[in-house]
This record gives sequence, structure tokens and C-alpha cells, in this order.
Amino acid sequence: MPLDGGKASRPLKTKPGLIKTAEEIDGMRRAGAFNGELLDYMRQFVKAGVSTLSLDKLAHEYTVGHGHTPACLNYKGYPKSICTSINNVVCHGIPSASEILKDGDIVNVDLTTIVNGFYGDSSETFLIGNVSDDAKHLVLVTARALLLGIAACKSGNRLQDIARAIEPFVISQGCSVVHQYTGHGIGKNFHEENFSVYHHIDPEANNFILAPGMTFTVEPMVNAGAWGVTTDSRDKWTVRTSDGSLSAQFEHTILVTSAEPEILTLTPSQKAAGVTIAVPGMSID
Ligand code: MF3
Ligand code: CO
Ligand code: CO
Repeated sequence: MPLDGGKASRPLKTKPGLIKTAEEIDGMRRAGAFNGELLDYMRQFVKAGVSTLSLDKLAHEYTVGHGHTPACLNYKGYPKSICTSINNVVCHGIPSASEILKDGDIVNVDLTTIVNGFYGDSSETFLIGNVSDDAKHLVLVTARALLLGIAACKSGNRLQDIARAIEPFVISQGCSVVHQYTGHGIGKNFHEENFSVYHHIDPEANNFILAPGMTFTVEPMVNAGAWGVTTDSRDKWTVRTSDGSLSAQFEHTILVTSAEPEILTLTPSQKAAGVTIAVPGMSID
């Protein structure tokens, strides 16, 4: 979501209103599990030669076919069911019939669904065919950034610990963290108010203590060049790197527990492999 009401001068304490009930947590688990299933279903289609519009149709039909709702469709006027962000597109790329995936591309597929009133939100960046070493590096750094961010989602940590885990690592790898878009609280709403999860360090950002029962996304957008981004003036959605460099993103929906963070959007294949993210050509975790 766009960086907005996440800044607050409120005292450093936890926020009881953000803690989900047991019933709500159950709803979030189901929503996350479906979103993960959808992501696994989509994998087989994310290949050279397919249009991003066909990916949108497949995701839409799978979601509706299972009795659920694509959250992005008509969200604040967004025209499609998923976001497909290729190469220098940072986020919110709109699927199109004329946009065909080709060898060497990297593409983020961002899926959000509503299951019995609860939202699940996750994304991966896919490598199409043979990608450059630079692109591969960026995608691996971004996947690692998400893992580091998730590891910081521990009860007793503060919200800013997520950014503190992510940004120095990304910079050490020669890349940059996008500032303008953040993770977000999620539940019965897509983007919960006043709960922005920064991926870049900002001492003025919200910094309450994480407590069991909080659900939010971690979704770092990482650029190969500088972090500045520009929104398309015609479609008002597509966000690109200002310097034209490549950008990648991974996203999971997370539940803070009294033990390790629970990844609600873990996919069946990730569960089977015992990994949190799987990027071809790399083994992480
Ligand atoms: N799924 C995106 C996120 O992670 C939001 C997409 S909003 C849309 O927050 F309207 F562009 F679909
Ligand atoms: Co999100
Ligand atoms: Co998303």
C-alpha cells in the first residue's frame, strides 16, 4: 500500500486493537492457505509466451471457482484481479493482453483473495527462462530480504525491527529498498488503518511492540538501482523505478505468535519442501 498513516508520535507500546481473536485467526489461516494454493496453481502458467491478461483470467477463475473473491478487482478502481509487475515495474502492474512474458523477464505476481470475509495477500517474483545474473541477484536478495523481515516478526520485537532487518542487508548487496510502498495490517480489511509495515528504516515510523495475534504483510520491493519510483500518469496504477532499473518483490501474510512467526500464505509446495520461499536456482531457509 502507499506509505500513508503509518507515522505516529504515539508512545512506544503495543496496540491492543490490532490483536485478532481466535476466530479471526482461524479465518486468516483459511484465507492465507487459499491464497497460497492459488499461488501454487499459478506457477505452471507463469512462462514465456503467456500474456499477463491470461494469468489474470486464470487467477480470477480459480478464485471464483472455489467460491472466493479476488480482492484487487475494483479495489479503489483497480481494473483487474491480480497485479503483474515486469522488470522495471515495482508494483501494481495491470495485466494486459498485449503484455507477453518473454525469456529473460522477471515478473512479480501479486495475489490477494477474500475467503469468508478475510484477506490473504502474497506475491512472488518469477524468473522467466534465462535471466541475467544481475536480475537473479536482485531476485535472490529480495527473497532473502523477505525472510529476514519475517524472522523479525517476533512477539516482543518492535515494528521497526522489520525494516532494521531488511534495509541494511539490501544495501549491503548493492540494491535499495523502495520507501513509497509498505506492508500493511490485514484482516477483514485489505489494508488496515494506521498499520504500515515499513521495509526501510525511518525512526519516525510507527514502532509499537509486536504481540501474538497481530496479522500483517511483509512485502519488500527492492530495486537494483535507486529507490525512487514513479506512478504512470495515464493508468494511475503502474509504479516503475524512476531510474529504469529492475525491481523485485516477495510478500507473505504473517501472524505473530508467542513463538516463531506463522506464515499464513505458505503454499502447499513450500510446506512440502519445508521452505518459506522457493526461488529456482537457490536454496534458502
Ligand atoms: N496486493 C497489493 C499489496 O500487496 C495491493 C494491490 S492493490 C491493487 O498490498 F489495487 F493494485 F490491486
Ligand atoms: Co500486501
Ligand atoms: Co500483495
